[in-house]
Amino acid sequence: MILVLIKLMRPMGLSIFFFTDGTSYSIEEKKIIKEFKSQNLDPISIDKIKWDSSFKNIQKFKFNEEIFESKVMHELLVTFYKYGFVILENVPVSENYIIKFANSIGSVRRTNFGEFFNVKSKPNPNDLAYTSLALSPHTDNPYRKPVPCIQLLHCISNDVQGGNSTLVDGYNVSETIREQYQDFYKILSTVKVKFRFTDNTIILEDSSELIKLDDEKKFKYVRFSPRLDYAPILEKSKLDLFYRARSKLSELYNSPNYKIEFKLKSGDLLMMNNYRLLHGRTMYDANEGERFLQGCYIDFDSTEGKLRHLKRKFNL
Ligand SMILES: [Fe+2]
Repeated sequence: MILVLIKLMRPMGLSIFFFTDGTSYSIEEKKIIKEFKSQNLDPISIDKIKWDSSFKNIQKFKFNEEIFESKVMHELLVTFYKYGFVILENVPVSENYIIKFANSIGSVRRTNFGEFFNVKSKPNPNDLAYTSLALSPHTDNPYRKPVPCIQLLHCISNDVQGGNSTLVDGYNVSETIREQYQDFYKILSTVKVKFRFTDNTIILEDSSELIKLDDEKKFKYVRFSPRLDYAPILEKSKLDLFYRARSKLSELYNSPNYKIEFKLKSGDLLMMNNYRLLHGRTMYDANEGERFLQGCYIDFDSTEGKLRHLKRKFNL
């Protein structure tokens, strides 16, 4: 047991004396007030803004070597938390720059695809991403514990006609389901689905609701990857309802009403919230030219930590 004597020293603050070891400590009142105020500055308190296919306000930021410690980076991160993604232009395409970029915000989250991965068509692919086929909207690595939070995708070259990037706001879709299909929302947010990745060296597996809610029953994240999920074991009528709900979810995710599409050019770096957005691409013809993207993941503690630091630094 630790015995302490706390004295209020008005107007300066608090004086604390620890009987156990005879040490004392004083805290200024303004520091206490600042600490309480800072609770309201947490990045998770940034309100999400829902968007659909009519979204035209894609936020683009120009890269420079000083950006990581600048007010622009603060604005970029706030925008990222609002919309779930941002695009940086003119990011150097020199060798594996994406790793330097990621580690300048936080730390790279390594996965079974390595510290980073190259997205271009290759023989005997272990993932559809490594083909030139279209990719329907999905979230990445739903079989990981924990799922990587943020995906960075850096376009090195894109000389083909197709291969456009697509994004869907999973938050908007799940809110639509909550408002219009209550039965579907309930089952999608309560039944856990198994996701599994298998190749020659590893089997990765995790289970989650397709729409995950937090303790206050508000949106937490989505997971969706129809090539990697398994049927939940449910009684027949509940299973029927689940599949009708999953079908509606898939219909909305794939609907042109919710999807935006754009072409990444050399030097563009797309930063996506993998807990909120679904991403995909249109097909392309690999014989037309090179399409080469590099990707990696970072976690929210990186971006949140950076955001708090920049708020403190610029007194925002
Ligand atoms: Fe992906």
